[in-house]
Amino acid sequence: MITDFFQPGILTGRVAFITGGGSGINLAIGKTLARLGADIGICGRTPERLDAGRRQLEEAGARVFATVADVRDEEAVKSAVEGCHDTLGPISFTVCGAAGNFVAPAEAISPKGFRTVVEIDLLGAFHAAHACFEQLKQTRGSILFVSGGQAWVPFAFQAHVGAAKAGIDNLMANLALEWGKYGIRSNSIVPGPIAGTEGMSRLGGAQAEAIWKEMTPLGRMGRLEDIGAVAAFLATPLAAYISGARVVVDGGQNLTGSHVFNKALEEALKVSGPRGS
Ligand code: COA
Repeated sequence: MITDFFQPGILTGRVAFITGGGSGINLAIGKTLARLGADIGICGRTPERLDAGRRQLEEAGARVFATVADVRDEEAVKSAVEGCHDTLGPISFTVCGAAGNFVAPAEAISPKGFRTVVEIDLLGAFHAAHACFEQLKQTRGSILFVSGGQAWVPFAFQAHVGAAKAGIDNLMANLALEWGKYGIRSNSIVPGPIAGTEGMSRLGGAQAEAIWKEMTPLGRMGRLEDIGAVAAFLATPLAAYISGARVVVDGGQNLTGSHVFNKALEEALKVSGPRGS
């Protein structure tokens, strides 16, 4: 197991709060942190996903706080962060991971569709970081934003996501600058094509894996544990001097740009129209 490479219990006594933590990459991050001793707070929109996430986190050894909160709702996020504190103790690692995506040509994205993704990804990340500030100040903790290659590589049919992720990286850097004086570190992780995630299913799913592998210098899809391991590293004292960094965990994928993806998806959309809602 990837956590065998860390000192056992390196995160014992720490509390992580993860938005969108009931599934996918965010849950994988939570499970890795839990195996290293952390207790985990998660919030999300779907009770069933939160319940499933809670069970897996408990199996990984964590005490868990799970609550329904849509990251677009500032008050719901605040109360989730307070609830996490009251149940588990002060938060020292915040993962701003909740995200939304659908694939659509820019002209087919309504202003509301664009706003929805920016509100989930960017505003939601700000809500979580902002709500956790006092606790992170107390623990001299850190924030991890989940960004994407779309932040700097334009991917077709991802205009809304690119804008949101670019905003996230800028927010990440700003908070590193402003909150460093409190001992708070702020970084982004950029997952590449990670097999079996909802994000990937929205970007072509298993059918597109051959294309993603072709676009990835390491020649394979990413695994959930590839992301969990780096996120955990960033939560530990091993990363004590890393702040303001965009940490790319993509097998080199973004070096090759988006052209192959764009062409393949253009073909797919001709057949089926916009998808992923
Ligand atoms: N093409 C074009 N527009 C789309 C779309 C698509 N495939 N899917 C959604 N939209 C638009 C909707 O039409 C709507 O705008 P309109 O009222 O002007 O038509 C707007 O986006 C909001 O959609 P709605 O379904 O009401 O929002 P929601 O809050 O229920 O869902 C989404 C948010 C759209 C991001 C949805 O995809 C979602 O819930 N995603 C969460 C999970 C996810 O994406 N995970 C992967 C993360 S990488």
